Amino acid sequence: MCGIVGYVGNREASPILVEGLSKLEYRGYDSAGVAIIENGDLTVKRCKGRLKNLENNLQKKPVKGTIGIGHTRWATHGEPSDSNSHPHSNAEGTISVVHNGIIENYIKLREWLGSKGYKFYSETDTEVIPNLIDYYYKGDLFEALTKAITKMEGSYAIGVICKNEPDKLIAVRKDSPLIVGLGKDEFFIASDIPAVLEYTREVYLLEDKEFVIITNDGVTLKTEDGEVIDKEIFHVTWDIDAAEKGGFEDFMLKEVYEQPKAIRDTLTSRIAGDAKVSLENIKFTKEELDKFDRVFIVACGTAYHAGLVGKTVIENLAKIPVEVDIASEFRYRQPLITKNSLLIVISQSGETADTLAVLRDSKKLGATVLAVTNVVGSSVSREAHHVLYTWAGPEIAVASTKAYETQLIAMYILGLYLGEVKETISKEESSIIKEEIANLPSKVEMILTQKEELQKFAAKNYMDKDVFFLGRGLDYAIALEGSLKLKEISYIHSEAYAGGELKHGPIALIEKGTVVIALLTQDKLKDKMISNIREVITRGAKVLAIANEGDKDIEGVVDGVIYIPNTNPILTPVLSVVPLQLIAYYMAKEKGCDVDKPRNLAKSVTVE
Ligand code: F6R
Repeated sequence: MCGIVGYVGNREASPILVEGLSKLEYRGYDSAGVAIIENGDLTVKRCKGRLKNLENNLQKKPVKGTIGIGHTRWATHGEPSDSNSHPHSNAEGTISVVHNGIIENYIKLREWLGSKGYKFYSETDTEVIPNLIDYYYKGDLFEALTKAITKMEGSYAIGVICKNEPDKLIAVRKDSPLIVGLGKDEFFIASDIPAVLEYTREVYLLEDKEFVIITNDGVTLKTEDGEVIDKEIFHVTWDIDAAEKGGFEDFMLKEVYEQPKAIRDTLTSRIAGDAKVSLENIKFTKEELDKFDRVFIVACGTAYHAGLVGKTVIENLAKIPVEVDIASEFRYRQPLITKNSLLIVISQSGETADTLAVLRDSKKLGATVLAVTNVVGSSVSREAHHVLYTWAGPEIAVASTKAYETQLIAMYILGLYLGEVKETISKEESSIIKEEIANLPSKVEMILTQKEELQKFAAKNYMDKDVFFLGRGLDYAIALEGSLKLKEISYIHSEAYAGGELKHGPIALIEKGTVVIALLTQDKLKDKMISNIREVITRGAKVLAIANEGDKDIEGVVDGVIYIPNTNPILTPVLSVVPLQLIAYYMAKEKGCDVDKPRNLAKSVTVE
C-alpha cells in the first residue's frame, strides 16, 4: 500500500503535495518524493525515510511550480532506499510517474524493455511504467498511457506528468484506489479523500480503467478508447479524522475490513489457477528441501498463533515435522538447530527483538532461515536467507488483524510450495486447496456482513469478568488468537483451552453464567467438541459457537451460533478468526477502550 497525490492549479504545488502526503502516511511511510514541472523542466526530489526528510530537503532547496505529483511509499518490490523511492522517471527525465499497486509482470516487461535498449536504476516494479510510456510516446501522453496499461498486469493507481506536455497531469487506476478533488481553479488526485479535504469536499471516485486528464482549464474523464465519461460528483461529509480511517471509527476496524484485499494481494502472482506455487526469489530444489529434517517456526504473540496453524499446514502438505515456539522461550532452551533445519520466523514488523535474536542464533548454528514479514527492508527481511512478504500494507492499530490473516495465507502458500517441490501432495489435492484459497476473500466479506449479531453479543457480555475460548486442532490455534485479541483491547480476562484439556483442570473455572466461545469448524473433531460444550453448559456456561454453515445440529445445544461459510477444513482459520476479531473489537468499544492504542502495549516490541 502506498499513497499518491497530484496537483494542478495556480499555487505552489510542493507544500500542497507534502500536506496531502502527510494525510496518507497511514498508507506507507518508508520513503517519499515529489516531481514538479519547474520552469518547463521536470524536477524530482525523493528520499528514504519519513515524509519529514523530504520536507526538510524541500525547505533547503525549494522546487517551484504549479503542477506536480507526490508519493509516500510502503515498499513491496525493492527495499526502502533513495533510488527505489517514487516518482520514477524515464532515462531522459521527461516522464515521471507515481504508482500505488503491484505490476505483477514487471520482470517480463523489464526484460522486454531492456531488449529495446531501456536501462533501469531501481529494483521497483514501478520503473517499468515511465519507460513503457516513453516507448509508446509519440507526442500524446494520454495515448501513450492507454497503450502502456495494455501491457501491464496487476494493480495500479498511477499519476503521470511529462516535460513535453507541461500543463497536464494524467492519472488512471485499476484495483487500487484513486480520487479526483475538484477545487476552485485547482484540481487534485489522491489515493484517498483525506489528502484533499483541506481544499475541497467535491470529488470524483474513479472506477477501474477510468482516466483523468487535468489541466488548468479543468478535468476530463475518459475511457481507454478516448470516450468522455460523464460522472457524478461525490460530496464528502466526513471530517478529516473519520476520512483518514476510511469512514471507520478506528484503524482496527478499518484493518479488519481491509482483510479481503490484504489476502488477495498476498496471493497475487503466487497462487494463480492450477499453476505451481511461485515464490518470487525463493527457489528450492527437491534435493535441497529433502535435506531439511525439521522445520522450526518461531514468532511472538499473534504471529506465533499464525505459526501454530503453519505447523498443521506444513506437516499435512509437506510431510516434514514442524516445531513451533515462542521466540523468547526458544532462544533460551538450546534448541536442536542444525544445518539440516529450516527456520521460519514470522514477524509483521520484522523488528521484534526476540524473533530477530532467534534468527541470528539459528543462522550461526547453520540453519536456513526464511522470514515471513510485512515490512520490506526490516531487520528480519535483511538478515534472513529468504523472505516471503505478506502484502497486508501498513498496520496501524496495535492489535494485529490483517497482518495475521496474511501470515495465515503465507503459511498455506509455503505449505503448498514445499509439498509441490517435495512431491508430497498430489496435483489434485493442491488444485482443490488453491481453488478454495482463491474464494477466501469473498468468504471473509460474507462474514463481515454479520457484524450486527456480533455487536449484540458484545453489548450483552461486555461487563463479563472472564471469557473462555475452546477449540480442538486448528480451532485451538484460533481460540488462542481470539483470546489474545479480547484481552489486549478490552482488558477482559480470557483464556483459551484445547477442548480435550478441559477435564484436566480448567473446567473448575466454569460457573453459572461464564461465557464460553466454542469453535467447531473441524468436522472430524465436531462430536468431541459438542461433548465439551455439553460439559460446560451442565456447569452453567453460556456458549456462543462458531460453526460451519449448515451445521444446524449445534443450534439446539448452545445459546447462539455464528456461521462461517464452508471451506476446506485446513483453511477455516482464515474465516473463523474474523468473528473473534469483531467480538473483541465491539466488547472493547462497549467498554469505551481505545482499541487502536491499548494500554501498556506497543506495536513493535524491539527490546527484550
Ligand atoms: C497482538 C500483536 C502482537 C504481535 C507480536 C509480534 O495483536 O500484534 O502479539 O503479534 O508483538 O509482533 P511482530 O509480528 O511484529 O513480530
